[in-house]
Amino acid sequence: MTGSRSYYVTTPIYYVNDRPHIGHAYTTLACDVLARFKRLDGYRVMFLTGTDEHGQKVEKSAHAKGIDPQVFTDEVSQNFRDLASVMKYSHDDFIRTTEPRHKAACAALWKRLVDRGDIYAGKYAGWYAVRDEAFYAESELQTAPDGTRIAPTGAPVEWVEEPSYFFRLSAWQDKLLRFYDEHPDFIAPESRRNEVISFVQGGLQDLSVSRTTFRWGVPVPGDSEHIMYVWLDALTNYLTATGYPDTGHERYKAFWPADLHMVGKDILRFHAVYWPAFLMAADLPLPKRVFAHGWWTNEGQKISKSLGNVIDPYELVGTFGLDQTRYFLLREVPFGNDGVFSRQAFVRRMNTELANDLGNLVQRTLSMIAKNCSGKVPEVGVLEDSDRHMLDSAYSLLDVLREQLDRQAFHEALESIWVVVRAANAYVDHQAPWSLRKTDPKRMETVLWVLAESIRQVALLMQAFVPDGAGRILDQLGLGQEQRGFDTFGPRFALVTGSDLPAPQGIFPRYAEEEVVRS
Ligand code: ME8
Ligand code: MG
Repeated sequence: MTGSRSYYVTTPIYYVNDRPHIGHAYTTLACDVLARFKRLDGYRVMFLTGTDEHGQKVEKSAHAKGIDPQVFTDEVSQNFRDLASVMKYSHDDFIRTTEPRHKAACAALWKRLVDRGDIYAGKYAGWYAVRDEAFYAESELQTAPDGTRIAPTGAPVEWVEEPSYFFRLSAWQDKLLRFYDEHPDFIAPESRRNEVISFVQGGLQDLSVSRTTFRWGVPVPGDSEHIMYVWLDALTNYLTATGYPDTGHERYKAFWPADLHMVGKDILRFHAVYWPAFLMAADLPLPKRVFAHGWWTNEGQKISKSLGNVIDPYELVGTFGLDQTRYFLLREVPFGNDGVFSRQAFVRRMNTELANDLGNLVQRTLSMIAKNCSGKVPEVGVLEDSDRHMLDSAYSLLDVLREQLDRQAFHEALESIWVVVRAANAYVDHQAPWSLRKTDPKRMETVLWVLAESIRQVALLMQAFVPDGAGRILDQLGLGQEQRGFDTFGPRFALVTGSDLPAPQGIFPRYAEEEVVRS
């Protein structure tokens, strides 16, 4: 049934100079939700994440600790894998750029660019920011209060002069502009797309793609004095994982070009300008979409190690719970915008939305069924307009979410689900099944069936966002693993009257110290 429908989604590969923080967790979480959603929807999915282990920045961090870069990267890369298991990411592969398969892919791509005349030898003289691993033109620089030159990102720059190979980026300017024009969905959100287009319209200079003044990188084929520029190396990871340079590889054939590169807004230029230019030059298919999301600040302040305000995802999960963390991050901020992280907002959302709106709805419904219907799925009976209306709104959700998630509008998707959750709460209040118990028990059964069936639709969809809690709801509806794909969504697989249901249990706990946080 999965047939030819495939979906390939990637995260940036993270620098191993640092412990993972909430920003890294966020990007991978967004990809995880898409990967889970597409799998449930019958797609064959490849979800890739990993670590970016070469370059001057990583080498410097290793030296600062007095350890060999390979030992250092082994250690720090493991932190990102640990985070992935704590966050329950469902990635299919975790790539490290120090792996042999990746070095082989880089060498192959390099040779292809040389063969096609897009790489030539020269000398670089210009500015470089190690923190960004990026070259900057004089015209882009600003002067810091202390008189030093800094990049537009605030990163310090240094003057670099060394022999270098160049990629003929200038030759691709018009082709890139035509590509953006012909593929209006390639860069999202729209405002970011406009920024990229004006950057490219402003003129592209050839790009230095090798370094000679340090050693921690992939050697340039045929010239071991040089190592590849870390961004050419890093971007290639998306191809490596498909089996490239073996373009006959089953993974390559199934998954390249990628459906989505998810990135933070800080690295859009690399993904939306350099990467498509490299691929065009190599005559390889281009990814379908690059989405640049916004940045989290901590209560309004830039998150940084030096400010000591790094938000630790382990701490959040430990304090508030995994589902709560996953839910908050994708619910609080329209995806694409910058977001302010606030503990107060976090607690408010987990308590009012997860615990009250959804958790209580499930708990109330299932407890009434346990008490009044001997723990079995009740009789459907005769559906009235209000019942049909409730069910229709739940049944319509899948198509709505498909469209929203193809636009990476996570916040809209959760809001759509919540429209139904709130409608179900209004329905239960209005129908008051607890009083029907005496007056019209048949009608009570119908109402409880409609509620349980609506909850089933919500829980099926929520699996992508909060896999643990949604799984527990489906457990309590007596549904086995084979009854959780989106092929079971809708009326054809409606809850069967008389099926046994397990004893209901709480799903989403409240955070008890709400009052403390609020003050
Ligand atoms: O740039 N808010 O790696 P990196 C939201 N190795 N997201 C944030 C964030 C914040 N405050 N801080 C970081 C690199 N991120 C390269 C990528 S890809 C071929 C190479 C996220 O470790 C966001 O996704 O600096 C951003 O793009 C990424 O971390 C940068 O991670
Ligand atoms: Mg960075």
